[in-house]
Amino acid sequence: MLKIAIMGAMPEEIEPLLEYFKGYRVTNYAKNKYYEIEHKGCSIVVAYSKIGKVNSTLTTTTLIERFGCNKLLFSGVAGAVNSELKIGDLVVASKLAQHDLDISAFGHPYGYVPEGSVFEEADSELIELSKEVAKEKGFELKEGVIATGDQFVCDVVRKEWIAKTFKADALEMEGASVAVTCNALGVPFFILRSISDAADMDASFSFDEFLKSSAKISADFIVSMVERIIDNFK
Ligand code: ADE
Repeated sequence: MLKIAIMGAMPEEIEPLLEYFKGYRVTNYAKNKYYEIEHKGCSIVVAYSKIGKVNSTLTTTTLIERFGCNKLLFSGVAGAVNSELKIGDLVVASKLAQHDLDISAFGHPYGYVPEGSVFEEADSELIELSKEVAKEKGFELKEGVIATGDQFVCDVVRKEWIAKTFKADALEMEGASVAVTCNALGVPFFILRSISDAADMDASFSFDEFLKSSAKISADFIVSMVERIIDNFK
């Protein structure tokens, strides 16, 4: 049975989803709320994790292990690293890395720990599907590398370091931990972000201004994808 998890990190990132799907049942678990939805005969669970890698790992694990979700889509906002990306643009992660994971003192590359890997790859079928949906709906998508860390980046030097070290196109605070968790548990996942800022000195102002509108752009695309996934499943 298909059971789709849709995750965000902040309330603003899932609000448009709850508005779209309307009826839901709320379960409180591990200091979080999980919104269970029945849509066209398919089960969907929506949740926001709260910001950061630890919270997003907990929510991802819960969605999979407790709620039995077997596909996970993440919707939210990101800071642009690639200068071609502008406010509201959509970025699909092909692979993700943790930019703040550093045991380089032992000669390891940034983002690497033994028995892990610097990059976690997202599900290629979901990426293909997103391209079809984008084409059909007239959305423009950029596929690229997303760098994740427990840090709101608002500094050009740090941003340039992340760009150079990971060839990153965008950065945020949850994607790579969701990716590690889904890959470890064998669940296909898809990470979509819409740009809210440029991770520079104006980032916090830009983030506050564009969080809602960019989160809605991302959520609207995720809705189209979910509809397509359900149609394909029937
Ligand atoms: N999410 C959106 N913008 C961000 C930034 N500049 N740093 C980290 N996460 C973000």
